[in-house]
Amino acid sequence: MTSTATAHTNIALIKYWGKKDAILNLPTTSSLSLTLDKFYTTTTVSKNDSIDTLILNGQNVDARKIQNFLNILRDELGTFDQLTITSENHVPTSAGLASSASAFAALTAAVTRELALDLPNETLSRLARRGSGSASRSFYGHFAVWHEGIDDKSSFAESIAAPDMPIALVVAEVSSETKKVSSTEGMQRAMTSPDYSSWIQNSAKQFLDIQNAIITSDIEKIGYIAEKNALDMHALNLTARQQPFTYFTQETQQILAIVSDLRHKGILAFSTMDAGPNVKIITTLNEAPTIVNHLKKEMPHLKVQTAASGPGVTYD
Ligand code: ADP
Ligand code: DP6
Ligand code: CO
Repeated sequence: MTSTATAHTNIALIKYWGKKDAILNLPTTSSLSLTLDKFYTTTTVSKNDSIDTLILNGQNVDARKIQNFLNILRDELGTFDQLTITSENHVPTSAGLASSASAFAALTAAVTRELALDLPNETLSRLARRGSGSASRSFYGHFAVWHEGIDDKSSFAESIAAPDMPIALVVAEVSSETKKVSSTEGMQRAMTSPDYSSWIQNSAKQFLDIQNAIITSDIEKIGYIAEKNALDMHALNLTARQQPFTYFTQETQQILAIVSDLRHKGILAFSTMDAGPNVKIITTLNEAPTIVNHLKKEMPHLKVQTAASGPGVTYD
């Protein structure tokens, strides 16, 4: 038998950037995301009689991370055979475009389907969290919140009720190369910043404020809060006491400046960034083409795509 599932990536508008328990993957803050239609992972699992294996985009690759994760699933769900995982990323891998989110959500969904377990999304979310925190949010379409929780049971994501709104994310891809500092490593360094505790405090307020903006479909307010949260997160990387670093490149800064210019010209545009140099611009479906055209004119080699709100996990 084989089982297949597809999960879309999600981009956090209020970021997860630090763990209070690295073994259980419990975050220091609650986070909130938008699932994207354009970027996703499709994963098929099948039994084999040797060793857990990962075939990613047609290549046999290092499977240690998924071997650890599958062993956690064996502890949690009861043991099962060794698996061959065949996965296709329709998103750059390890480039700050959230491949780990769609990957671990799709993998958790496919494995539990293969075991004929019909688990609710909250349970799948809690399990996927152990593989990669951001994956907890990728079971749901549209907006999701990951409640930080206090233990394994209470730390999972769920969908939040939100009106349909014409929100769009213009993804400006500076590089699809593998990042030098993984998310796991980056957030560990950021936690050594003297500003870390104030970031947590600000995040709690932004988490509440953005939910009010979502309820009222106030895309401008959503963008404003998300941009602040993201730029403050990236400031922590620079002010880390241990191994300070940045994901910003020259081109990242150029894009951020263009977004700020466009905003001064009256276009709704706010930036958010994850663990990589790529910039996602929060805007409306109406205004996205103006932003895309402007970016293409100023930076002709840049890969620019517009994503809208996407669906939750699906099974073949
Ligand atoms: P990203 O910004 O892409 O989420 P991370 O550093 O968070 O980058 O995570 C990348 C990790 O996820 C790598 O260890 C990579 O091998 C793993 N990964 C990415 N895609 C898949 C996939 N489809 N199946 C299994 N593991 C994957
Ligand atoms: C900046 O979920 O990739 O994208 O749990 O260590 O696998 P691990 O990290 P990961 O971190 C994502 C960080 C972020 C913000 C976010 O998605 O909330
Ligand atoms: Co990731």
